[in-house]
Amino acid sequence: MSATNITWHDGHVSRDERAQLLKQKGLTIWFTGLSASGKSTVASALEQYLLHQGVNAYRLDGDNIRFGLNKNLGFSPEDRTENIRRIAEVSKLFADASTVAITSFISPYRSDRDSARQLHADAGIPFVEVFADVPVSVAEERDPKGLYKKARAGEIKEFTGISAPYEAPESPEIHIRTDQTPIAEAVAQIAKYLTENKLI
Ligand code: PPS
Repeated sequence: MSATNITWHDGHVSRDERAQLLKQKGLTIWFTGLSASGKSTVASALEQYLLHQGVNAYRLDGDNIRFGLNKNLGFSPEDRTENIRRIAEVSKLFADASTVAITSFISPYRSDRDSARQLHADAGIPFVEVFADVPVSVAEERDPKGLYKKARAGEIKEFTGISAPYEAPESPEIHIRTDQTPIAEAVAQIAKYLTENKLI
């Protein structure tokens, strides 16, 4: 049930003033890709790189968030949509607080990612979609958690890429073939985009 009788309260400090005071603007960098596509690895390396540059960055990661905030959600289409809706809201809050929010979720549905993008656009917050792209065959061969094997055996239902869809982005800001790109190069590619677009 939705809440009624609620009122939005603005604080004393605007987003622009906060950015000036902290000498940093916020944004969301949204990774999407199959399980074992390398999105969390690149996201984590990017977070480390930015922090070492003195840029406050914070990573929200699929597996981790599902231990807490989203522990009541599974992998049905409805639950994935709700998962992504909440993450979009949380990343927007981090970005509003002048942090570089780095999200790393499969986020398999284009419409959910578009909603996340729209949420940021409505708030005037930059949103950068990064497609961690590998063929399913490569992800399946990697299978670091043994999940593809379980999915093939029917032990995991609705597994992305095997028995649940993954809708690849059509025009992501950044497209990385993670199986052909060393991690440092992937980070450099993203950093270049951020710098060239005056986002950091
Ligand atoms: S989603 O689709 O965006 O809501 O998924 P996400 O929150 O990123 O969670 C993905 C991680 O959950 C594990 N896992 C599954 N993934 C896909 N499909 C099914 N059925 C599934 N069950 C468990 C898996 O470890 C994913 O982690 P990554 O890092 O992507 O490998």
